Amino acid sequence: MGKIMILNGSPRAPKSNSKRYAALFRRYCPVGSDYFEITARNHAELIGRMDEYSDLLLVFPLYADSLPVGLLDFLKSLELHAGKRRPVVSVLVNCGFREYRQNETAVAMLRLFCHRHGYPFGAVLMLGSGEAILETPFRFLAVRKIRQLARAVANGQHPVLHTTLPLTAGLFCLTANRYWVLYGRRYGVSAEQMRTPDIEA
Ligand SMILES: Cc1cc2nc3c(=O)[nH]c(=O)nc-3n(C[C@H](O)[C@H](O)[C@H](O)COP(=O)(O)O)c2cc1C
Repeated sequence: MGKIMILNGSPRAPKSNSKRYAALFRRYCPVGSDYFEITARNHAELIGRMDEYSDLLLVFPLYADSLPVGLLDFLKSLELHAGKRRPVVSVLVNCGFREYRQNETAVAMLRLFCHRHGYPFGAVLMLGSGEAILETPFRFLAVRKIRQLARAVANGQHPVLHTTLPLTAGLFCLTANRYWVLYGRRYGVSAEQMRTPDIEA
């Protein structure tokens, strides 16, 4: 195996959870990797460099049960301007909700993309509670799976891995609610304001 190109598809890549997950992947991966963040302007540059790599790891958050639009746009560019080499595409997707299975549609979309365009599909890690898990005593669950993913990618294996916070739905809602209310308070935003569409502005 050669080298791994890691692409962060989060719209808030420099401050993202995906960036932290990618860093953990690199820490445990026994082969070399380079990390990049997808922006609206660097598609050509990233695609131009893809021939240097045997493997591609897409790290991104689930957005509305799908891929973030920036990642979709990048895939459109890749569709039009792919290089000669077809790296093995692996996936590390995280979602905010507890149920890691919510990521399955996004993974299926990428499988289809790879199938249609001749990219071998590699390993998958689906993380639930992706916004929170690294800040809890259950961080080790995420770290353990990322280490497994890193070794699988390095060894050319293709498992589908997953983990999440081991909380009941009720407890997850309670703690998540408290977390976001306190988070909003830090920025002077009330729980009521967070429940309105204005929060998007
Ligand atoms: C616009 C938007 C849409 C989202 N949609 C979902 C979703 O459909 N399901 C889910 O579980 N989490 C959803 N999330 C939560 C993110 O997946 C989660 O916060 C993730 O940790 C963000 O990762 P990042 O920091 O790498 O961008 C959404 C977040 C945003 C901002």
